[in-house]
Amino acid sequence: MKIVKSVICLSLALGMACSSTAPVGTTPTAAKSAIDIKVDSVLKLMTLQEKGGQLNQYNGFYDVTGPEPKSGQAAEKLEHLKKGLVGSVLNITGAEQVRNIQKIVMDNSRLKIPLIFGFDVIHGFKTISPIPLAEAASWDLRTIEKSARMAAEEASAAGINWTFAPMVDVSRDARWGRVMEGSGEDPYLGSQIAVARIKGFQGTDLAANNTILACAKHFVGYGFAEAGRDYNSVDVSEATLENVLFPPFKASVDAGVRTFMNAFNDLNGVPATASSYLQRDVLKNRWNFSGAVVSDWGSIMEMIPHGYASNLSHAAEIALNAGNDIDMESYAYVNHLEDLVRSGKVSEENLNDAVRRVLKLKFELGLFDDPYKYCDAKREKEVTFSEPLQIIALDMALKSVVLLKNEQNLLPLPKSGKRIAVIGALAADKTSPLGSWRIGASDNTAVSLLEGLKNYPNAQITYAKGADVALGETKFVSELTINTTDKSGFAAAIETAKNADIVVMMLGEHGLQSGEGRSRSELGLPGVQQELLEAVFAVNKSIVLVLQNGRPLTIPWAAENIPAIVEAWHLGTQSGNAIAQILFGDFNPQGKLPMSFPRSVGQLPLYYNAKSTGRPAANEPNSVFWSHYGDVPNTPQFPFGYGLSYTTFSYNNLRLSSAKLTDSQKITASIDLTNTGKVSGTEVVQLYIQDEVATGTRPVKELKGFELVTLAAGETKSVTFTIDKKMLEFFSANRKWETEDGTFKIYIGTNAQTNSFKVLTVE
Ligand code: BGC
Repeated sequence: MKIVKSVICLSLALGMACSSTAPVGTTPTAAKSAIDIKVDSVLKLMTLQEKGGQLNQYNGFYDVTGPEPKSGQAAEKLEHLKKGLVGSVLNITGAEQVRNIQKIVMDNSRLKIPLIFGFDVIHGFKTISPIPLAEAASWDLRTIEKSARMAAEEASAAGINWTFAPMVDVSRDARWGRVMEGSGEDPYLGSQIAVARIKGFQGTDLAANNTILACAKHFVGYGFAEAGRDYNSVDVSEATLENVLFPPFKASVDAGVRTFMNAFNDLNGVPATASSYLQRDVLKNRWNFSGAVVSDWGSIMEMIPHGYASNLSHAAEIALNAGNDIDMESYAYVNHLEDLVRSGKVSEENLNDAVRRVLKLKFELGLFDDPYKYCDAKREKEVTFSEPLQIIALDMALKSVVLLKNEQNLLPLPKSGKRIAVIGALAADKTSPLGSWRIGASDNTAVSLLEGLKNYPNAQITYAKGADVALGETKFVSELTINTTDKSGFAAAIETAKNADIVVMMLGEHGLQSGEGRSRSELGLPGVQQELLEAVFAVNKSIVLVLQNGRPLTIPWAAENIPAIVEAWHLGTQSGNAIAQILFGDFNPQGKLPMSFPRSVGQLPLYYNAKSTGRPAANEPNSVFWSHYGDVPNTPQFPFGYGLSYTTFSYNNLRLSSAKLTDSQKITASIDLTNTGKVSGTEVVQLYIQDEVATGTRPVKELKGFELVTLAAGETKSVTFTIDKKMLEFFSANRKWETEDGTFKIYIGTNAQTNSFKVLTVE
C-alpha cells in the first residue's frame, strides 16, 4: 500500500495520472508484479538523459577506495544531483548528511526519484566485527548472520541502504591481499557463508528501515588474479569457473541477493565488466537474477587501459550492452548513454532493462514512500556503538579464533600466580585489530590485547614493544611508525621476557597490510618480527605466539619451535577482550581454518581440494618423478579445516546407512564424536567426498557438509549427514551439472586431512 501511495505522490507531483493501483501483495510473485507495474509507470516518465543518469553512481568524497576521477568534480556532481542525473551514491554517511543529499534530489530534480546510498559495510560499520576471513574461520553460520545483521542495523541508522558485500570470491592464493575480505578457498563453505551474510544484511523485509541491500562481488574470478597480484589477469577453464568460482555467486542469487558487482579483472581475455556471457547469459538468464549489476569502481573506464575499449563512450557502450547496469565512478553512462541510444549503438530496450532494475530496488527499499526513512538522527545515536552490538562483535570474535598449536597445554594461562610478559607493537595497537576495509570506523577504536588482558586484575603483566610492524604501503596509515630494520627495542623485550614465566608475543600484519591493493610476495612475519621472536625464544621458550593477520602467513620456524600459537586475525572492535578470554580459558577456541596455511610462498596456489595428478605420491622415498617440490613437502603447514581446542575429540564408527545410492534416494553418513578431554568444547565436524572416477578429473576431497557440535567432557554424540545425488553433482564433461554413477569416498573428520572413509556406490 505504501508504495502505491508514493507512486501516486510522484505522479501527482508531475501532474500525470498514475496507472497503477495494485497493492503490494504478500506473496513474492504478487509483490514482484505489483512493483514491476510501478516501475514501468515511473520509467514511462523518464527522458533518455534521466535514464542514463539513473544508472550513474557518484562517490561522495575522493580517494577512499580508488584513484581520484579526472573529471566530475564536486560542482558538476551537485549539478547532476539537481537534474536527477544520479541514481545512487557511495561513501556518504550519517543520518543528517544523507538527508541533506537526498533533499537536493527531492527538492530540485524533475522526477524526484530518491537516491540509494551505498557503502562498503564489509565487516561492521562503526562497530567492527572480525574480518570476513576470520568470521569464516568460525564456520558458525548463525553467528555470521548475526554479525551481518548487526552491521546492517548500525549502517542503516547512519543513512546507508546498500552494502557492497559480501565478497564471495573464492581464492587459493594468500599473496592476494583481499583474501581477508572473503571466506577462503572453499566453494561450499563460501556459499554457505555468502547466504548467511545476505540474510543478515537484507533480513526478511527490505522495506524495513534497518535492512540494507547486499551485493555479491566480484563477478567473477577476481580472487584468481595471476600470481596473487591484485587487479591482475585471470585465466580459468570453464570447469573451474563452474565448479569453483560460480557456486557462491549462484548461492547468493538463490538466497535473494539484490545486487551484484562485476570485477576489475579480465577473465579469459574479456574484462568482467564487458562480459555479456557472465552478466547476461549466466547471471540474468540462466540464474534468473532480477536485481542490478554495479560496475566496480571505475571498471567501465578501466576497459580503456585493458585495451578493450577505445574511449569512454565505447566503454559505456560495451558495458551497458554486456549487462552492467550501474556505473560506479566512471562518468561513462551519464555522459554517453543518451548519445549511444540515439546513434543506435545501445538499444533503448537494454537501457530500459537496466533502469527498471534500479527503480525496482528503490521500490523494494520503500524509498518512493519515504526517501528519508534511513535518516533518523535519534536512532543513529542510539544504535551506534550500542551495547547489544558490542556483545555480538565479541561473540563473533571469540568464535573466529583458531588455536594452531598448544604443546604441553601451555594454554590456557593461569589467571594469577605467573609473571606474563607481553611483547609486540601490535599488542598495544588499538587501530590494527580493525583490519582492512573498515572505512566507517575511526582509528583507535578497538580494544587492544593489552587492554583486554587488564580485565584480569590478578594477572601479572609486563609489556615491551620489541619492534614495530613494517609497512610496505603507507596509504591511509597515519600514526604508524614505519620501521623495517630498527632493533633498538629488542634489548628491553629480551629483558622483559627473561623476567617472566610465560611470554605472550603478538606478531603479524598491521590491519592495513592486507586488503585491496595489498598483495605481498613474501608471507613471513613482516619487518624484524621474526628476528625478535627468535631473540626472545633464546631467553624464554614458554612463548604463546598470537598472530594478528589478514591472510595465511608462512611461519615454518614458529610452527616448529613455538609451543603455543593462536591465530587471532584482525578481530575488530572487541579484539583484545576476545583474545584475553581465549588466553585465560574463559572461552574454549573452536575456529577452523578456512584457508590452507602454506609452508612457503612457493607452494601457492595451495588448496585442499586439488586434483590428484597422474603422479600423485612418491612410492619410493628417493623417487624424483612425481608431482612434488624438492625442498618442501606438498602438504600445508596447517590444512584447511584445521583448528585445536582446549579439549580433544575422537571420531569413531564411521558408517553409511547404505553402501548404495540410487535415484531419488537419500542415505546417511554418521560418526560418533566423543569429547575425550577435561573441559567442554565445540568441534566443527566436516563431511568430505571424493568422486573417484568421472568424465572430468575431480578433486581429491570436497567439503559437502559440516556441523558445530558442543560436547561436555566425556560426552559422546552421533553426528549424521544426509547424502543425496544432488550433493554429488558437478559440472561434467557434458558441460552440465550432473551426478555421474560410480564410487565415491565419504569422509567425516576434523579437517581436510582426515583419512578414514567409507565407499558409496552411486547407480
Ligand atoms: C572495490 C570494491 C568496492 C568499491 C567501492 C573498489 O575498489 O574493488 O569492492 O566495493 O571499491 O568502494
